[in-house]
Amino acid sequence: MQEQLIEQILETLTLEEKSAMLHGVTFFRSGAVEEKGIPAVETSDGPMGVRNEFPGDSWIPVGISDDYVSYLPSNSAVAATWNRERAYAGGQVLGEEARGRGKDVILAPGINIKRDPLCGRNFEYMSEDPYLVEELAVPMIQGIQESDVAACVKHFAANSQETDRIWVDTIVDERTLREIYLPGFKAAVQRGKSYSLMNAYNKLNGEHCSENKALLNRILREEWGYDGAVISDWGSVHTTRQAAESALDMEMSVTTNFDEYYFARPLIEAVEKGEVSMEAVDEKVRNILRLMLRLKMIGPESGERKQGAYNIPEHRESIRATAREAIVLLKNEDGLLPITPERLEKGAPHPLTGYRKKKRIAVIGRNAEHMHSGGGGSAEIKALYEISPLMGLKIQLGGNVDIQYAPGYYIPGKKDVNEVNWQETSLERQVNRRKDQEETAEEAKQRQEIENQRKALREEAVALARTADEVIFVGGLNHDYDVEGWDRDSMKLPYAQDQLIEELLAVKPDTIIVMVAGSPVEMPWREKARAIVWNYYAGMETGNALAEVLLGRVCPSGKLPETFPALYDDTVTAKNGEFGKPEKVIFKEGIFVGYRYYEKERIRPAFAFGHGLSYTSFAYDHLQVEMDPERGKELEDAAVRVSLEVTNTGAVAGAEIVQCYVADPVCCVERPVKELKGFAKVFLEPGETKQVSMVLPRRAFAFYDVERHEFVVEPGEFTVLVGSASDRIWQQETVEL
Ligand code: BGC
Repeated sequence: MQEQLIEQILETLTLEEKSAMLHGVTFFRSGAVEEKGIPAVETSDGPMGVRNEFPGDSWIPVGISDDYVSYLPSNSAVAATWNRERAYAGGQVLGEEARGRGKDVILAPGINIKRDPLCGRNFEYMSEDPYLVEELAVPMIQGIQESDVAACVKHFAANSQETDRIWVDTIVDERTLREIYLPGFKAAVQRGKSYSLMNAYNKLNGEHCSENKALLNRILREEWGYDGAVISDWGSVHTTRQAAESALDMEMSVTTNFDEYYFARPLIEAVEKGEVSMEAVDEKVRNILRLMLRLKMIGPESGERKQGAYNIPEHRESIRATAREAIVLLKNEDGLLPITPERLEKGAPHPLTGYRKKKRIAVIGRNAEHMHSGGGGSAEIKALYEISPLMGLKIQLGGNVDIQYAPGYYIPGKKDVNEVNWQETSLERQVNRRKDQEETAEEAKQRQEIENQRKALREEAVALARTADEVIFVGGLNHDYDVEGWDRDSMKLPYAQDQLIEELLAVKPDTIIVMVAGSPVEMPWREKARAIVWNYYAGMETGNALAEVLLGRVCPSGKLPETFPALYDDTVTAKNGEFGKPEKVIFKEGIFVGYRYYEKERIRPAFAFGHGLSYTSFAYDHLQVEMDPERGKELEDAAVRVSLEVTNTGAVAGAEIVQCYVADPVCCVERPVKELKGFAKVFLEPGETKQVSMVLPRRAFAFYDVERHEFVVEPGEFTVLVGSASDRIWQQETVEL
């Protein structure tokens, strides 16, 4: 039925009209063919909410007030919840807001693998582990698309660095692609049924992803059977003929020469000259029409399209719920956290007046008050509001506690980015902004001034800390570092924060350290600090959620979706030198990305993959691992049933993320020490026990065989391990397959 209609419509279209549908006629909109009843496709970034409006041919935002939106947690925050329901709920909010703003395609989720901690866009991505990515991307996409809006899963594929992102050639071997970099996308299109997908900027094994037939035609279309729309990343197309022959459908870019886009006039000319077949063009038009039908933009159901809604209270509630679950308690010696009500009770009454002195909390660090929503690149959001950590604490504690703030560190002013958006020049080759260059006299003077500023702010902060009953430091990164288009050049904290933290810990050993950031940082003071809290960019309610955790109103349950190495030098990419280079990077480490590498080399990270503490404690018991009697031969079929009992052995209610890893000790190819293959989040009252069950499909035991070009399960013994982190395995059992 649908396909028939597509053919009927196709017959009515001229070549010019087809071409119009296949490229941007403004920055975010494809061409409409009004007379033939074909609307434009309205796209918008992005992952953390619906981006503000641009006029269409200028990167100066329209700048009116109707495009403030709900600001959602970044994908790194969503991943830290390890909760499929939160991913789904986030998708629902994003989809509904996108539709409410009149969009057809929301350019999200970003699911690239975190190969190196310094990638500038890590904050937009989920994890170093493909299984965790799959499990969260699928419900997120389903949530988005419930509102008759298309998800556009990005960036396909192996786009794991920003340095020279438009030209860099990413060399990845077949097994590594199949086991690490492709599974998220495969799940996104096959299980999530993402209506659209965005190709990456980079080259993959010699060819740009926008015209990479191995990737787009063979794997995506033929193997995975994808019939959705493939949209180019903005400015990632470099040719007419090759791109037209590949399975790319729509070309978008950041420049205003819309008629000269490769799929505009040049495409028409190429078809006329016989260089590109009409069939190739038709196939693209079919995919765009199919997208429109799925979204009810056209077709018999077009009267029933959902209208969406943005800035509604339910969205803020949902965002807050996710923000709460995204907070990761990295360290908590002797129960320093939470700050209990007793600790904040006013002092003894004055014998005559009854006056009771308030307790003083010193909140130190720029990230306590910094608003992050407006930065990061295409993920920037014009947030309806953003509750900072400082505001969150004040909202939660009101007037009975004396909360004092000191910035503590100095952030040198940056260029005014509001006038023209960075995106205008985003196609320029960008290679390492912070290169070591000879310092000019002017720069030396500026540096001295910055150092003076820093010293003054540090002294002020330390003085405040001395007078306080509780000290909370809130530092980390911001979108000067977690940013599209650039990779960080170091994993160290910027703005001399390490020195400040050391000084605070010296005067107040109980200083609570909160890191707000989108990617790992070195924490040289982590042995000294007694409590460390990690907070990814978590949306408009982030400060409320953080305050609730710090004050013990919410029990933290987040887990790291990536390893935090102790030092950047511990990473495999630092050792093999294959990250952040222009022109060519070879993924020499193969499948040994993230914990797969650290475990193989027995390198102890600062905080392991899956790590995250709670205010309560859990016991694991009665692990049972059984072959599924009904198991079939297909990789997707259930193979092994895992069940165990988890008990809350502490004094407060809390949630635990039970992680299930699989190891294949004897195999004809080298396998990781273990790999994540299941997880479940379980909420428990104090003393409560629950049965947790997980089913592992056959593919949980498989590896990619490069001889046979498919996943295979090698018969033999496997170990199933369950625990609360990759380095906290509490029980294990073997099973024979
Ligand atoms: C980014 C995409 C984004 C697009 C549109 C590109 O620079 O890589 O993720 O969706 O711009 O803004």
